[in-house]
Amino acid sequence: MCGIVAAITNGLDARASVLHGLKTLEYRGYDSAGMAVHTGDSKLAVRRKMGKIANLEAELASNALPESDQVIAHTRWATHGAPADRNAHPHTDDGGEIVVVHNGIIENYLDLRAELVADGHVFLSDTDTEVLANLIARHMRNGNGGIDLHTAVRTALTEVHGAYALVAMCATEPGTLVVARQDSPLIVGVGDAAHYAASDMPALLHLTRDFVALENGESAISHADKMQLCSASGDWIERETTLCDWTPEQAEKGGYPHFMLKEIEEQPDVLARTAFDRFHDTEGDVVFEDTFTLTDADLRALRRIRFMAMGTSSHSAMIGRWLLAEFAELPGETLNASEFLYSPILPENDTLTVIVSQSGETADSLRAMRELQKRGGRILGICNVQGSTLAREADDLILTHCGPEVGVASTKAFFGQVTALYLLAIRVGRARGVLSTERGLELLHDLRALRPKLDSLFAPEAMAAVRQAAAFLATVPSCLFLGRGLQHPIALEGALKLKEISYIHAEGYPAGEMKHGPIALIDEHFPVVVLATPDRTYEKMISNIEEVRARSGKVIAVGVAGDQQVQNAADYFLPVPEVPPYLAPLVNVIPLQQLSYEVALALGRDIDQPRNLAKSVTVE
Ligand code: M6R
Repeated sequence: MCGIVAAITNGLDARASVLHGLKTLEYRGYDSAGMAVHTGDSKLAVRRKMGKIANLEAELASNALPESDQVIAHTRWATHGAPADRNAHPHTDDGGEIVVVHNGIIENYLDLRAELVADGHVFLSDTDTEVLANLIARHMRNGNGGIDLHTAVRTALTEVHGAYALVAMCATEPGTLVVARQDSPLIVGVGDAAHYAASDMPALLHLTRDFVALENGESAISHADKMQLCSASGDWIERETTLCDWTPEQAEKGGYPHFMLKEIEEQPDVLARTAFDRFHDTEGDVVFEDTFTLTDADLRALRRIRFMAMGTSSHSAMIGRWLLAEFAELPGETLNASEFLYSPILPENDTLTVIVSQSGETADSLRAMRELQKRGGRILGICNVQGSTLAREADDLILTHCGPEVGVASTKAFFGQVTALYLLAIRVGRARGVLSTERGLELLHDLRALRPKLDSLFAPEAMAAVRQAAAFLATVPSCLFLGRGLQHPIALEGALKLKEISYIHAEGYPAGEMKHGPIALIDEHFPVVVLATPDRTYEKMISNIEEVRARSGKVIAVGVAGDQQVQNAADYFLPVPEVPPYLAPLVNVIPLQQLSYEVALALGRDIDQPRNLAKSVTVE
């Protein structure tokens, strides 16, 4: 949802490194991109272009910006104002004195704009950000020369309702960048005689691995050699930097044609990184880091567990609910985080809420977390991004160790989340005394044994089967994904993956629902993807396959390699290795990710940056 990068250095030209960082953030939005520099002679220069960053690069090649040690840049996911050059960031005030990049939504921008127009300000875009630039400029001018950029930004922000992460620069205040945030992510990177700012750490990994995350309401003044952090109440504060353990290579494609393919293939390593170091191999238990402060007594006192998330993360949350019931006998529910605020308010006594989020910046999930904390609820975050808002604000935290996920379609993050949820179920089950040491040891053994089994999913035969099914699926306008029990969330995830990157309409259903409506859609042009691996739903899934075939529907089935019954019944068969049923989600999701990837490839879609989407949805 818009990406911001900025740099201020001690005389070194920062244009190339900011552009490099911006490309790393393109997954956050790709409706337009722009860059602004301070020219050193009390002037600002701006270039902006509709469309992807490649268009901005072409513009910069023909109409270069001057070298500068003070650069800000932006890649946009349109909210206010259609994708167009004039709506692209950075935005300046009408005097060309202030320039701003912004991620978020200024909810009262129309009122503010009307006031500014009445004051004689002229607007050239439809955006809320141009309002911010003019508001800051108005405060600077009203200051009779006595107000600096930071004071003007802070004063302007007192008039604003909504969410923002912003970087501002002023023509008459060289050597200074001002950053501020409220409900949209922003981190400051600390370099050697340089400071940086970005929406997300991967954008700065080529420059630094030392970061300071801004909390809500905070702002900062960045010079090349120092950064002054200011609290929401206006006090100067000190904060240690945090070292990020991601490497710059993890945020690169590494020879793969798409991030999505690279990230699908990284999943066996994600299993090892997220799980194995946390095993307690003599106790049949799991040991989390000290960000997990829930004691055995806390876990025993729980009566209910609630999972909340959005999108793909809500599918892993559904699996989490099932695992906690199965292995820890803890009943619970899964709620869509955006719906939570509109649900009846129940007492929070003895309830733990688990918020699952790859980015830790999803606005709906954060809003639900804060609302619950206000009601006295306790939050456990499961998150991939160290230092993100969820990671910082949740009461307890389990980090997944997936490395940066860049493809907009989430793959390895889902895998890491489900892995972390297995660990959580084991930990809670052991703490509550419902999981014996022996059973705990078996579960750890099964997880460890899973890793080599995953290799067969990437073997040439398996990939050939996926490509065959994909060649067929790429010809249909619509399809259904069916699964029962633990496979229902995988059916939902398969359908989400397919629709978001191929634009083929797909719905996931609990297989038992098929006869209650969706069956009416089935004919020779309407295929069904079925999850039919061995568990207590197997016989019923075979019946579903027959029902589809009886109506001339084509079946793509995920089944265990060598399962003749499923293979013979299906038109396309995607073989998976046999694993204990409770681990099947981690296996079965992979051919569905590969299937959607291959369908999107066959259709020539923009796989890593599908239309209309953004990686982190930081607005509600
Ligand atoms: O960062 P989060 O896990 O909180 O993001 C939630 C969803 O926005 C995300 O999973 C989205 O659905 C993905 N595009 C799915 O591939």
